[in-house]
Amino acid sequence: MRIETPRLLLREFAADDWPAVLAYQQHPAYLRYYPWETRAEDDARRFIQMFIDQQSASPRRDFQLVIALKETGTLIGNCGLRRAGDNEWEGAIGYELAPSHWGRGFATEAARAMVDFGFGQLGLHRISSWCIADNAASARVLERVGMRLEGRLRENAHFKGRRWDTLLFGMLGNEWRP
Ligand SMILES: CC(C)(COP(=O)(O)OP(=O)(O)OC[C@H]1O[C@@H](n2cnc3c(N)ncnc32)[C@H](O)[C@@H]1OP(=O)(O)O)[C@@H](O)C(=O)NCCC(=O)NCCS
Repeated sequence: MRIETPRLLLREFAADDWPAVLAYQQHPAYLRYYPWETRAEDDARRFIQMFIDQQSASPRRDFQLVIALKETGTLIGNCGLRRAGDNEWEGAIGYELAPSHWGRGFATEAARAMVDFGFGQLGLHRISSWCIADNAASARVLERVGMRLEGRLRENAHFKGRRWDTLLFGMLGNEWRP
């Protein structure tokens, strides 16, 4: 599977993508809102293998793709859409980017492509996502792709020595503008 956006190529993961993923997943700014303290080669290899396994599932339920720059092919992150429930009509999106490429609208561009894929190709009825409430950049990406804030789950995450609130966002097919 491949999706092209104006500046990005979203493509399937391959086993040799792990060094590029590990390089950004070790960055402290990337790790801030994840429970992980650090990442090692094994973690990156397992992370990617999970997405490679998704490719051969039949029917396929989860689509986690490399975000690469169209111009150079450089891997700068990943994004995905997975079935949220045990049904055919609901999905959840996610994304992450190398800190060196933050602030240029790439996550919004990739997330929008996954929303378009979910509603346009898979015919989903609902797409949701969530983020740690302090992760303002991620919440902004979800707003920018047209999702609505549906709720704040108070202190439902616990890592790095503290509790965190989580924001839940959602969008229905009839609110989607391709
Ligand atoms: C969240 C993340 C994907 C955003 O990537 P990005 O490419 O920088 O996002 P974009 O440039 O598309 O959009 C970011 C938006 O957030 C805004 N933003 C960035 N930092 C912000 C902050 N600290 N407070 C408020 N808004 C902020 C930007 O101004 C932009 O909004 P705008 O277009 O209206 O100006 C990136 O920070 C990341 O990979 N973080 C680590 C992994 C992660 O948290 N993934 C999400 C898990 S839910």
